[in-house]
Amino acid sequence: MTNPQISIRNLCVDYITDAGDVRAVNNVSFDIGKGEIFGLAGESGCGKSTVAFSLMRLHKPPAFITGGEVIFDGRGDILKFSEAEMTAFRWSEISMVFQSAMNALNPVLTMEEQFCDVIMRHTNLSRQDAIRRAQGLLEIVDIHPDRLRDYPHQFSGGMRQRLVIAIALALNPKMIIMDEPTTALDVVVQREILQKIYALKEEFGFSILFITHDLSLMVEFSDRIGIMYSGELVEVAPSKQILEQPFHPYTEGLGSSFPPLTGPKTRLTGIPGNPLNLLEVPQGCRFQARCNKVHSACSSIPTQLRQLEPNRFSNCHLFNKSS
Ligand SMILES: Nc1ncnc2c1ncn2[C@@H]1O[C@H](COP(=O)(O)OP(=O)(O)O)[C@@H](O)[C@H]1O
Ligand SMILES: [Mg+2]
Repeated sequence: MTNPQISIRNLCVDYITDAGDVRAVNNVSFDIGKGEIFGLAGESGCGKSTVAFSLMRLHKPPAFITGGEVIFDGRGDILKFSEAEMTAFRWSEISMVFQSAMNALNPVLTMEEQFCDVIMRHTNLSRQDAIRRAQGLLEIVDIHPDRLRDYPHQFSGGMRQRLVIAIALALNPKMIIMDEPTTALDVVVQREILQKIYALKEEFGFSILFITHDLSLMVEFSDRIGIMYSGELVEVAPSKQILEQPFHPYTEGLGSSFPPLTGPKTRLTGIPGNPLNLLEVPQGCRFQARCNKVHSACSSIPTQLRQLEPNRFSNCHLFNKSS
């Protein structure tokens, strides 16, 4: 991709624990374009949140970024930024909406305090101007500006999630990471919030890394989708193609675990077996034990994400001419 918003190359993250060292993210590479919504999907525990945290360098031990590069806006590798550079970068260039809005908001502070804290820490605005900015942000997410004086518990779940989105927008970031942003909400509110996010993206032009385990929701809202399995990116494709014409057997299985958005109802087949134990990673492909198209190369030759067609990537040996 030319001139991407962010370019992630060979990212590796390890969890170093008494039980053993786990490579939770292995050689993950992808780009997100300016104004693009990139979805990251895969079963629970496959490493989606670990990738997201890496882009803001929010990891704490036992997690360690052990390799790779994250180039933002062509401006150098943020994995090499100093702590001071990172503090200036976080929230103002990339911000994040976490899964649980209740945990992201401080229950003992009014929303005014919380907005002013973020805005005044990163700008030279006076308190009056910060409050004015916060009122504008509330209006953007359809909440009356007077409610700035309220505490988090005085809002509904859907409103709290919109407040968290407003805080993520506070410094006009170029990219927002949304890690399961609507999982805790009922389906109607989920859809409302995603439509709001989409409208804001159209208006302000930021990029989104959108994480969810709900593949049908993701297909609807993303431009392109990356599928992760056991810490690796196994396929990247435009969202329109990923379910209709999957290249990787895992994507195919994942697609058949969800009801289709349109067309006749079919039986959901799912994927037999369990996710890999990361303490016992086999040689070759990580998906081999669950794959219905496994062949001899899969147990010996390491996989690598390769471009197969314009805008289509997969790491499956079925498409590797040399294996
Ligand atoms: N605190 C932790 N200590 C040890 N291993 C962890 C910890 N958090 C996550 N992991 C490992 O990282 C893997 C990926 O976790 P995560 O990124 O949270 O997955 P996802 O967001 O896709 O559900 C897990 O399967 C687990 O092996
Ligand atoms: Mg997660």
